[in-house]
Amino acid sequence: MFQNMYKPVSGFSKKTKAQKLEWLATTHFSNDETAIATLKKYWNSDEKLQKLHDDFIENTISNYYLPLGVAPNFLINGTLFTLPMVIEESSVVAAASNAAKFWLNKGGFTSNVISTQKNGQVHVNFFGKQSDISTFFSEVKPKLIESIASLQKNMQKRGGGLIDIVLLNSTKALNGYYQLHCTFETLDAMGANFINSCLEEIARTFETEASTYTPFKNCNQSPEVVLSILSNFVPECLVRAQVSCKVEDLTTKHIDGAVFAQKFVRAIDIAKVEPRRAVTHNKGIMNGIDAVVLATGNDFRAVEAGVHAYASKDGNYTSLTDAKVENGIFTFSIEIPLALGTVGGLTSLHPLTKLAFTLLQKPNAKQLMQIVAVAGLAQNFAAIRSLVTTGIQKGHMKMHLMNILNQMEATELEKEKAVTFFTEHQVTHSSVESFVENLRN
Ligand code: MEV
Repeated sequence: MFQNMYKPVSGFSKKTKAQKLEWLATTHFSNDETAIATLKKYWNSDEKLQKLHDDFIENTISNYYLPLGVAPNFLINGTLFTLPMVIEESSVVAAASNAAKFWLNKGGFTSNVISTQKNGQVHVNFFGKQSDISTFFSEVKPKLIESIASLQKNMQKRGGGLIDIVLLNSTKALNGYYQLHCTFETLDAMGANFINSCLEEIARTFETEASTYTPFKNCNQSPEVVLSILSNFVPECLVRAQVSCKVEDLTTKHIDGAVFAQKFVRAIDIAKVEPRRAVTHNKGIMNGIDAVVLATGNDFRAVEAGVHAYASKDGNYTSLTDAKVENGIFTFSIEIPLALGTVGGLTSLHPLTKLAFTLLQKPNAKQLMQIVAVAGLAQNFAAIRSLVTTGIQKGHMKMHLMNILNQMEATELEKEKAVTFFTEHQVTHSSVESFVENLRN
């Protein structure tokens, strides 16, 4: 059972890294030196680089590695890309690479950005007459915009900034609830800091102006700001990607193109109507999306939240991809909201992120949206292709083989023998275990 290992600690964040480790060693690791040695093993020997990582968050004690892989041969809008992917799941990069190769000689992927607006809200309580707050808002709106003039000066110079503020009456959903719904163009920045700073300033001005507004004073009802924050639901920041080819071009030595297309479209149709399947289907899409989002230093939690909300925008959680056969042409597409940045945040801080951008030929935010959407589509293509033909486990376990061997602390020779043997045999945890045990005996 759990037990209290320590009394509440105060001032922890003020301790030095060494003091934090010492505290952990005594409270949590029974002074086991190997625990602390493991944490230290992952420190970077380049002190400057380690300091950079230490400063990303509070209470850094070590670094947590994930593999950075690359998936080559992605032909996107006529240009060949190698995608950087950060992910721990064994088969994801291999699947992406397969899908890229499959579409390479069929015209590749096309992708286009539909819209780029982001949004945020100042959430307001107001229990007076609706006409009072509406009139007040119309009068004060120019002042709200003026109040963020200095904040948005640079963004405006580059062609972005606040697009509009509207007052929304949400009192039907919640008594006394209004919103200042603000829309923004943040260009190549993901824009979270910019949007949140603008919203907080707008909220301050709104409350200050309201405090001296006579109609509110007269009825003793003044609007009160509850909170101000951007929304990670960005259905107006949309990108589309697709692939298409003649049905007969889908034929491989394993399956006829028409049969494959019919099974594939059916699989997508199932994900469209059955939420339980749709969640896993979309999780597969996010394998590709998150991996590139992470590699490029973007906020994958924001992307995850926004994409899944979009999958249920019509009331039912459904597939993010669509597939059809029309006049002998197979088309497979995705449409998703993606709020991404290519400047600011981690993008210009983390050395590997900078490298990822170089690999991607320094895209702007719109181009990155296109690339990331393609990564999701490719991942989904690879997953559905396996699922409706061989099943997912064959490829997945083949890639997982090395993990099982590493768990068994297999030697290089044992690994080599296992890889050769399992090209012809089914990989399962127990089959690998018996194979290695037989070798050892
Ligand atoms: C596994 O990470 C992803 C899949 O489950 C996706 C899918 O079922 O479509 C294979």
